[in-house]
Amino acid sequence: MKPLASRPQQMKRSGIREILEIAVRTPGCIRLEVGEPNFPTPAHIVEAAHRAAQEGKTRYTLSAGIIPLREALVEKVKRFNGLDVGIENIIVTPGSTYSLFNAFEVLLEPGDEVLIPDPGWPTYDTQVTLAGGVTTRYPLYQANGFRPVVADIEKVITPKSKVIVMCNPSNPTGAVCSEDEIREIVELARRYDLYVISDEVYEELIFEGAPTTAAKFDPDRVVTIYSFSKTYSMTGWRVGYAVAPAPIANWMARATEPNVACASEPNQWAALAALTGPQEVVGEMRQAYQRRRDLVCDVLKEKGLFQYQPNGAFYIMIDVSQAQMDSYDFCKELLKVKQVACAPGATFGPSAAGLVRVSLATAEDELVEGVRRLCDFVEERAASLKTAAAR
Ligand SMILES: Cc1ncc(COP(=O)(O)O)c(C=O)c1O
Repeated sequence: MKPLASRPQQMKRSGIREILEIAVRTPGCIRLEVGEPNFPTPAHIVEAAHRAAQEGKTRYTLSAGIIPLREALVEKVKRFNGLDVGIENIIVTPGSTYSLFNAFEVLLEPGDEVLIPDPGWPTYDTQVTLAGGVTTRYPLYQANGFRPVVADIEKVITPKSKVIVMCNPSNPTGAVCSEDEIREIVELARRYDLYVISDEVYEELIFEGAPTTAAKFDPDRVVTIYSFSKTYSMTGWRVGYAVAPAPIANWMARATEPNVACASEPNQWAALAALTGPQEVVGEMRQAYQRRRDLVCDVLKEKGLFQYQPNGAFYIMIDVSQAQMDSYDFCKELLKVKQVACAPGATFGPSAAGLVRVSLATAEDELVEGVRRLCDFVEERAASLKTAAAR
């Protein structure tokens, strides 16, 4: 038989999934590896989908999404993000994961380089590979709170560079960039004539600082990725959207058609209800994540493992290098010995090989207990290394 296509075989396996697969087979384990809100989708959103389905709104829609939702999004991005766009700039997709891939498909020629953060969400690397591009990583240093430094990005730009990907607030670090930092990155992109894909799916989950959308500094070169998943606890509904300059948006809508046709119609009506309904729930979830962030930082301080405070999203990176283990081995051993699952740092990029990511999207008691066990594991492992060295 002829060989299968080589591109999918170049995809790196997600370390999060690798641990998840062991975690689901480990009874009673504390799950801190996945980035999935533990809150139910608010009832009025569920009811809107139910109503839509009963009313027969169960059809294919325009590839870019139903008009009422895109009109409401025009209003949202104006009010919340300060962007002046029309519905022709908005493409609703089955989850923002597809918005992102859609953007890569439209922007990349084979071999084009995409600058991605290290550490960064592993899907960037996989999607660029699938779209025929090549990733280059720019470093994010813990000493700088994991926020990008323009000079570090500039160092890895080559004549083949085409796109800079930024993620603010960040998965996996929870870092939130200042307005000046974002402006400088967009200015850098302009100087080198690069596009920017700004992943802002955690825009509503900022504890300190304010959301800044990169597109306001150069709307003609920035594609912004947004989602209903994290803001409204709607991960399984698969509704996300991109805001893009008209020529890019036009091709993104065109490419959506043969790939996925459109997002699910009842779920688009549910997303409209999320946008136009009561917003208190968004603030309540944000406060809950912030409280969990504080609790985790307190445990880390008590155990001597505190390094930095994330200011947004629902993740924290913990430095476990004292255990002197590869981060995959660390996570597997932690799961076996302490029944706690977390994500290996190396899956987010080589710079995070001594770190693990803990998700704050788990109930408080479990989260605190899980982080305590993780710290105990590091302590026990460091002590046994010391004893072995003294022999
Ligand atoms: C940084 C980032 N961007 C995008 C997504 C995709 O979210 P969704 O496809 O559910 O909209 C995720 C999901 O975890 C994420 O962490």
